[in-house]
Formats: sequence, C-alpha cells, structure tokens
Amino acid sequence: MATRFVFLIALSFSIILSLVPVTTAKYHVKGCVYCDTCRAGFETNVTTYIQGARVGIRCIERASKKVVFYTEGETDDKGTYHIEVENDHHDNICQTVLVSSPLNWCSTPDPGRNRSSIVLTHYKNGILNYLHYANSMGFLKDEPLPVCHHLLKYYLSDSDV
Ligand SMILES: *[C@@H]1O[C@H](CO)[C@@H](O)[C@H](O)[C@H]1NC(C)=O
Ligand SMILES: *[C@@H]1O[C@H](CO)[C@@H](O)[C@H](O)[C@H]1NC(C)=O
Repeated sequence: MATRFVFLIALSFSIILSLVPVTTAKYHVKGCVYCDTCRAGFETNVTTYIQGARVGIRCIERASKKVVFYTEGETDDKGTYHIEVENDHHDNICQTVLVSSPLNWCSTPDPGRNRSSIVLTHYKNGILNYLHYANSMGFLKDEPLPVCHHLLKYYLSDSDV
C-alpha cells in the first residue's frame, strides 16, 4: 500500500517534471545589429555595431499566415540583443526582423540582411536548448565611408580567388 502510494507520487512528479520545461520554460534569442558603413551587403572590418536598435521576433502560422507571436527587444552597447521567448513555436515560421535604428544616418534596413529565420523550440536534436543564435542583421549607412572604395576592392578580389 505504502510503496504503491510512493510510486504514484514519484510518477506524478516525474510527469510534472517532464512537462514543465516543455510548456513553460523560457529561452533567449541572441543576435546583433550592425551599420554597414560601406553599403557592402556584408560585414567588413569598418562595420560598426548599433546600440539601441530595435529588433522584433515574429512567428506566423504556416497555414493561415497569421502572426501568432510577436515580441521586441533592443541592442546593447555591443549591438547585441537578448530577447526572451516563452513557449514552443516549432510549428510556426519565425524570424527576427529589424524594427528601427537610433542613427538617422544609418537607418535603411539592408534588404538582404533585414531578417533571419529561427526555429523556436526548446529541443534541438533532442537536447534542451536555452539560447538560439540568429544571423546578424544590418542597416545601410547613407553614404559609404571614404575608405570603403579601397576596402571593397580588397574584399571582392579576395572572394574572387
Ligand atoms: C581593414 O582591412 C583592410 C584590408 O586588409 C586594411 O587595409 C585596413 O587597414 C583594415 N582597417 C581596419 C580599420 O582594420
Ligand atoms: C526585407 O526586405 C525584403 C526585400 O526588400 C522585403 O520584401 C521584406 O519585406 C523585408 N522584411 C522585413 C522584415 O523588413
């Protein structure tokens, strides 16, 4: 009788323990936002990172294409954001998106780097996953820095080889 009772308690605890992380655990999405000072379409060694840029995380439902989740965060002095996400969104299509830049001379989202796909689930290959990395996103500086002319020649010739 007593052992059966203990067993039932142990069983219900293990059910609770196995359910809790899946349904309510929080995790973070991390990534960074840069200013493409060369309007190169990629990060260079004169790229700067933007503090105070706003980033959104948006999930849409595959079938209806309706937005089912949205949250926002801001970058720190290194241009990095850490946005907390709750619940599992692996059934949805999720992206990080650029919302705004605090720099009026660097506030045009680079059409090729204005979002990043992310899979928002706690389990990745069967492993609990509390931190998700998104690709960097960038705004384009209004005018490229003078040094860029020389620099881009170097970058482009390098990638041609
Ligand atoms: C960036 O790279 C180029 C090419 O290697 C180099 O000439 C330049 O000095 C570098 N600039 C900075 C700021 O590191
Ligand atoms: C990113 O840029 C593409 C191309 O201009 C555009 O179609 C898309 O809506 C943009 N996405 C976001 C999140 O701004």
